[in-house]
Amino acid sequence: MHSLLTLTTLLGTTSALSGMLSNTNLPRSSTSKKILPGPRLVSREEISSPILTKRDNTTYPPFLGPRPGDVRSPCPGLNALANHDICPRNGKGYTIPLLTDCLKRGMNMGADFSLFVGAAGIGSSPNFLSLEFDLDQLDHHDMVIEHDASLSRADASTGNNYSFNQTIWDTVLAYYDGTTETSIPVAAKAKYNRVQTESKRDPTFTYGPVQFIFSYGETAIYLSTMGDPTTGVAPIEYVRSLFEEERLPYEEGWRPTAEPTTLGSLAAMIFELNIANGEELPEGLTLTESTLKAVLRGLDPITGKVLDPVLQVVGGLLGITSSS
Ligand code: HEM
Repeated sequence: MHSLLTLTTLLGTTSALSGMLSNTNLPRSSTSKKILPGPRLVSREEISSPILTKRDNTTYPPFLGPRPGDVRSPCPGLNALANHDICPRNGKGYTIPLLTDCLKRGMNMGADFSLFVGAAGIGSSPNFLSLEFDLDQLDHHDMVIEHDASLSRADASTGNNYSFNQTIWDTVLAYYDGTTETSIPVAAKAKYNRVQTESKRDPTFTYGPVQFIFSYGETAIYLSTMGDPTTGVAPIEYVRSLFEEERLPYEEGWRPTAEPTTLGSLAAMIFELNIANGEELPEGLTLTESTLKAVLRGLDPITGKVLDPVLQVVGGLLGITSSS
């Protein structure tokens, strides 16, 4: 009886919260072009994905882009996978099983990543009890993934936190001037610069431990998926294709990495990135896989207190435990 009451109370709270969530239905996309060979590739023969091979044994699914009515997100990774129709091209109805499958096939993301990050994505949906989300629902500010000081998007206070923004992205690229590959030290400095820039110009700038972790995590994701989950070395050409065109650079030679990108590999890279730029760590924060799981479950990564009851409900419905 007690637990039933608790669940009912929680669901009542989350239903009320869900009504406050925004749901814009604008299609989102971007365009342009580049080239360059890269390192550490998996041969086509090694990739056994049914989708990656079924249309043509020698080519990957082509870049198709969004159609009228298709939706996109503030996330270049998910947009790129949708643009190739590896994840659903319409950008709608993403569930955990669907994400686990298409993120694995498209970019060799570990199932732990898809479960925890996918659960946080579901928390952004006004209909989170359906345990699915549409890509355009992911721009919900600070709930929980979308944050200020993105690498390629403007802050929410500008009114558009989801479209690719070349001017902002150019400030990141400037750090790579004269080089053809990314590195952890340079990526770390470029990321920290974004925080310093927006903290000065955005009057509503928000940057606590949660935003700290996500912003490092996203730098770690592009270094891992376009390059290598351990070294973070990626051809800049590949990275530009991902951000600027939301296109997977198959034609230029990119393949999903042999090693998967997992919450553990991301946590290790976040740690290295933070060491490399010297940004002060919020007091009491540790940079581990458990910390990542905590924020993705809506917990304060320092105190362990519930920050986000919606994510607690979603995690509960998905059966996520601390050992998941
Ligand atoms: C293949 C897997 C993925 C890759 C490669 C990827 C990559 C990225 C990158 C590089 C960014 C930073 C963009 C920027 O700072 O301008 C980002 C942002 C974001 N991603 Fe993903 N992502 C992936 C999966 C996911 C999943 C599964 C979700 C949620 C369900 C998600 C939600 C978001 C959101 C909401 C943002 C915006 C954060 C911000 O405000 O900057 N991503 N992603």
